[in-house]
Amino acid sequence: MLGWQTDVRVRLARLADAALLPAVFAESWRGAYSGIIPDLQLEGIIRRRNRAWWSESIRSGEGPLVITHERRIVGYATCGVARGRSRHQGEIYELYIAPTYQGLGFGEHLFEACRARLDARGLRGLVVWALADNEAAQDFYWRRGGRPFKELKEPFGASYLAKVGYGWA
Ligand SMILES: CC(C)(COP(=O)(O)OP(=O)(O)OC[C@H]1O[C@@H](n2cnc3c(N)ncnc32)[C@H](O)[C@@H]1OP(=O)(O)O)[C@@H](O)C(=O)NCCC(=O)NCCS
Repeated sequence: MLGWQTDVRVRLARLADAALLPAVFAESWRGAYSGIIPDLQLEGIIRRRNRAWWSESIRSGEGPLVITHERRIVGYATCGVARGRSRHQGEIYELYIAPTYQGLGFGEHLFEACRARLDARGLRGLVVWALADNEAAQDFYWRRGGRPFKELKEPFGASYLAKVGYGWA
């Protein structure tokens, strides 16, 4: 776990963060999905998550939570009302920690902050989707008490990738 003396904070993203989030996004998505999502699609997704995209997301009021270590952004998460038809009301849409900072407790801290945010909005139950090939993410959610309840295929260019829904009652 993160030591009590470590300067780690979770806060809502501010407009100034829009300039920093593209690099955190690119680093963590390449780390998570190189060799899983075809390169062409992965680089396209990364290009679209530019500063303008993050500015818009932050202005919308549904912007991400960021986790900082000594004021540097080391990860982000987005969460809100569950998409699609589901008995779970809340969803974590994205939760990403930059590769250098993984395995140190940042993900757990951010996950708990998302749960608290969803609870504060009165959303009961939680769903998170992870690509079936993303074993690290699936282990992470399993160890936090999530259980797989559904599998879907998502198109990435010409191919389809399986994704697994993990649910918490
Ligand atoms: C999946 C992900 C969010 C997990 O975050 P993380 O910061 O790496 O995970 P944590 O360090 O919080 O927790 C991982 C484990 O390390 C343990 N841990 C925490 N602090 C630790 C420390 N100082 N030393 C060693 N282990 C530690 C945690 O207890 C946890 O163990 P457990 O799951 O058995 O309880 C992160 O690895 C990530 O961003 N991966 C790539 C992107 C991704 O797949 N995102 C999810 C998409 S659905």
